[in-house]
Amino acid sequence: MSAVTLNNFSKSYGKMSVLSGIDLTINSGEFIALVGPSGCGKSTLLRMIAGLEEITGGNIEIGDRTVTDLAPKDRNIAMVFQSYALYPHLSVRSNMGFSLKLRKVATEKITSAINSASTMLGLDQLLERLPKALSGGQRQRVAMGRAIVRRPDVFLFDEPLSNLDAKLRVQMRSEIKSLHQDIKTTSIYVTHDQIEAMTMADRIVVMNKGNIEQAGAPLDIYDRPESKFVAGFIGSPAMNFFTAEYKPNGSDGFININDECTIPLPKLRTLQQGTVECGIRPEHLSLSKEKKTGHSIKVTVDVVEPTGLATIVYLSFGDQKICFYTSDRPDIGPGDTVYLQLSENKLHLFDVNTGKRLN
Ligand SMILES: Nc1ncnc2c1ncn2[C@@H]1O[C@H](COP(=O)(O)OP(=O)(O)OP(=O)(O)O)[C@@H](O)[C@H]1O
Ligand SMILES: [Mg+2]
Repeated sequence: MSAVTLNNFSKSYGKMSVLSGIDLTINSGEFIALVGPSGCGKSTLLRMIAGLEEITGGNIEIGDRTVTDLAPKDRNIAMVFQSYALYPHLSVRSNMGFSLKLRKVATEKITSAINSASTMLGLDQLLERLPKALSGGQRQRVAMGRAIVRRPDVFLFDEPLSNLDAKLRVQMRSEIKSLHQDIKTTSIYVTHDQIEAMTMADRIVVMNKGNIEQAGAPLDIYDRPESKFVAGFIGSPAMNFFTAEYKPNGSDGFININDECTIPLPKLRTLQQGTVECGIRPEHLSLSKEKKTGHSIKVTVDVVEPTGLATIVYLSFGDQKICFYTSDRPDIGPGDTVYLQLSENKLHLFDVNTGKRLN
């Protein structure tokens, strides 16, 4: 277990900057989920930590060592990729022991490391098989086992579950989480799966265009996104946004979404008055057939998606699309006119120019 510290970590390919001045400390034993849109630099960041990619600027410390100039093999890091990259001609046992053998570790030690990892991962019955005779989930576990036997200071995962079917993903997700609870190796886990990030991580790091937008505990990020980008990126279905006018009102304030919808809220400290981006999550709306209060907007139902567990409804507010999520089964259909009420204490306000949080 070791902390990982990135100081002003940057990467350019020629003139194109891919990562600009990343500063991040990952605590010893922490599990970090790294998320962000495709191309924002997640894999590049992992590869730089592993030493597979040269860095353009900054430095990296693992524990109390500065490893910036060390070769990958000297960093004591293990990486698990989306493609499991197992040696096809080697058995599960040999795949798992390969790196230890290369390092000339004593045979008994290799055997005992393989045995303990294979028991942990439920691979005991499969040790003599070749990778081609394994299912996707089993191969993924071998890739994990190969990483575990090395007892690395840090695990790096680059979308390790994205090749698996939905059910297996859920199973592997909880297996990786419980594994981390057992061995507590500092881990950085790249994923496109929101639920994986929310459920597995101690902290989520949200990246955008080579920068860190926000880092924090999953529910803190969900409840209090610091920018419109994070608000729109974290959460599925995604947050709805409206353009609204903010005005102060004595010691308080209010926003107008249109002439009919006025919502009071605490005074903003950083804005006198003007246009704001107002966000609200689909589950913080409530639907009614009659107009109940002035906190509601009149909308038209486009599509109703019952999932069994919940109902997701897509609606139009003028030419704007809105998503509503409920655990009820509302009796509505396409073309119906209904009202959506906005919970006043669930609004997120953002600066229209900078996208930064205002409330
Ligand atoms: N060898 C390279 N030469 C030039 N540009 C590169 C190279 N490798 C990556 N890039 C660019 O760097 C940017 C970041 O790539 P990276 O693979 O880190 O993204 P990512 O966040 O992992 O995306 P994804 O979610 O799609 O895997 C992309 O714009 C990519 O095109
Ligand atoms: Mg990637």
